[in-house]
Amino acid sequence: MKQIILFFCIFTMLSGACSGCSDTEREGKEETPEDIRSLMDAPYPMGCAVNVGLLRSNEKCRQVILKEMKSLTAENAMKMEALSLGRGEYNWTDADYLVNFAAQNKIRVHGHTLLWHRALPAWVSSFEGNREEWIALMRNYIKDVVGHFKGKLSGWDVVNEAFEDNGTYRNTVWYEHIGKEYIDLAFQFAHEADPDALLFYNDYGMEYSKAKRDAICLMIKDMKQRNIPVDGIGLQMHIDMYRPKSDFIQAIQAAASTGVKVHISELDVAVNPEKKPEMKFTANVAERQKQSYKGMSEALQSIPVAQNYGLTVWGVSDADSWLTAHPDWPLLFDRNYAKKSAYYGLLESF
Ligand code: G3I
Repeated sequence: MKQIILFFCIFTMLSGACSGCSDTEREGKEETPEDIRSLMDAPYPMGCAVNVGLLRSNEKCRQVILKEMKSLTAENAMKMEALSLGRGEYNWTDADYLVNFAAQNKIRVHGHTLLWHRALPAWVSSFEGNREEWIALMRNYIKDVVGHFKGKLSGWDVVNEAFEDNGTYRNTVWYEHIGKEYIDLAFQFAHEADPDALLFYNDYGMEYSKAKRDAICLMIKDMKQRNIPVDGIGLQMHIDMYRPKSDFIQAIQAAASTGVKVHISELDVAVNPEKKPEMKFTANVAERQKQSYKGMSEALQSIPVAQNYGLTVWGVSDADSWLTAHPDWPLLFDRNYAKKSAYYGLLESF
């Protein structure tokens, strides 16, 4: 019997079974007390975006979500191009799969996103109508979709990316055909369809553009003064490892100063923003990325707990990221779903 135990110990040591590593850091590290912790220890809802195809078919992806995540966002399955087959016609299959998986496992779902200038179905992009007809299109879509998920989602990204980096309104189909009032109307329609859902404005760039940051915060304050039902700001935070922590803090605290909830809604930390084909994910790069994740979590924890809606990373493993064409390694888990240093950076921040 002792020989069997000895063999098992030697095998485990030699197999490099390591839980704190990524591809380049695998040094057969021992399990540590840290490894029995999880991201569920976060002092806020920790979440991830997920591709429903992976959720259905990839057991490693599912296991990471079940062990680590308290919140899920559909990376694409709740966008207009995924849901809308035509006026009043919907395909709920993938979105319902995610919502049902989350409900069965007591995981929060955050809806992404009702109105955006991208991911539009062809019938909307080619729609020709007057202002009232565009408002009716928007109203019917929002009421159908928010109504379908009523009571099952904690909140929605009602409007996504309505501003340019210079603080002017983005000339989206919604802005072009309805005017800036489309934003107020979208939040009102969503609130009417599900009064209990928290309603967010979601965007990128608050960490690098003062003009955009100021425009968003001014809009939110103005909406609140006019009793438009807005509950939060989603800061996407698609950043790179060179972005200073002071930028995260400035953006997060500016958002919190409006009095609404704050969601770090799409965090990933690119390590190859220059898109160098020869880039390698070295231990030094991993450490720098770890500090970015740790700093973001610390920055989020600098605001009142009641305003902290949580931190969502934009994907599970590096293999799933929208960023990996260049190459890049932006997420918490490597392509084999092993924890990276970035993961431990979050643990250290709690
Ligand atoms: O599902 C179709 C498939 O049927 C088709 O064969 C294939 C090739 O055309 O396209 C597939 O759809 C793609 C979809 O991802 C699902 O994989 C779209 O072309 C592609 O444009 C889409 O990219 C997504 C992008 O948003 C645009 O919707 C990315 O995965 C997603 O990570 C990205 O996420 C956005 C957030 O929603 C908003 N903030 C920025 C963030 C990054 O761009």
